[in-house]
Amino acid sequence: MDDKLVSNEWHTDQYTSDQETSFIDNKNTNNKLSTQNELFLSEVLQGLEQTQKTLPCKYFYDEKGSILFEEICELDEYYITRVELALLEKIKTELAEMIGKQAIIMEPGAGAGVKIRTLLKALNNPESYVPMDISKDFLFQSCETIQKEFPNIDIMPIQCDFTQPVKWLGQQKHDNKIVFFPGSTIGNFEKASAIQFLTNMHDLIGSEGALIIGVDLLKEDKVLEAAYNDSLGVTEAFNKNLLARINSDLNADFKLDQFKHKAILNRQLARIEMHLVSQNEQTVNINGESFDFSAFETIHTENSHKYSVDSFLALAAEANLKSKNTWTDEQQLFSIHYLVRG
Ligand code: TRP
Repeated sequence: MDDKLVSNEWHTDQYTSDQETSFIDNKNTNNKLSTQNELFLSEVLQGLEQTQKTLPCKYFYDEKGSILFEEICELDEYYITRVELALLEKIKTELAEMIGKQAIIMEPGAGAGVKIRTLLKALNNPESYVPMDISKDFLFQSCETIQKEFPNIDIMPIQCDFTQPVKWLGQQKHDNKIVFFPGSTIGNFEKASAIQFLTNMHDLIGSEGALIIGVDLLKEDKVLEAAYNDSLGVTEAFNKNLLARINSDLNADFKLDQFKHKAILNRQLARIEMHLVSQNEQTVNINGESFDFSAFETIHTENSHKYSVDSFLALAAEANLKSKNTWTDEQQLFSIHYLVRG
């Protein structure tokens, strides 16, 4: 058992047959981009060519970004993690009863694994845990911690972009497939991609399984705005880390002090929008291409959609999923849903 704890002995390759999965080892040493970075570059260029410039948000989560995101989760203003964890703590016995025995628990975007530990502790003899994350080192580290705490659970990490299909998962014949998707990450998808993701989960869990999903609720402006404009500037550092990553991986010259983070609540679209605001008129070069910014022009980097219980369940219904149970905290800040095939 213990030899599995050595990081590089976690077997990722065998579980990832239908997508390129190495988002690591991509430091640019000889001016030639790796295949991964070619893809990264094309997505970056495409985003910056739009009238409203955008950047692809999945690239937030390199190792530094993953660490910064964990720091966000510990901020006072970022109520999401705290409230979800407390709610999970409160309902864990109920969840464990609904999940039953010998479950295989899959977690897309597993991150540091704090929430899963609460769930695994409550479960009756779970069989295996399959964390998926784009950041490999981060994923392996948290696997080690979890394996130590739960020596009897099989842990099978998959390094992947979970928005893309992972063939190995679909092939698993198992009666009790549970997908755990906390953190309101579903809110980071646009409607069509959210439905696509939920549909993939519908297909994955089969007729006996379930999707346990955390969804942040729409609420008053100041609580939402503070959560994404924290006073310590961690969210700013997280947002700007994307520019730093483009600089180092894609031969770019973003001047980090010439951009400021700004999160705006867009009530009409029920979402928080994250932007990076150019402080001046300036030109940025990326691998030989140049992009002009006017003063106060923004790059839109991320959205975080907020739902009501009803609007979320309507979305889930579009993927043929229905709620077997839905819980919210007393202040109606956050919701957790136990979804099964409709
Ligand atoms: N899933 C998180 C959320 O929407 C992601 C997040 C939190 C985020 N803070 C951010 C993404 C700042 C980009 C920038 O709450």
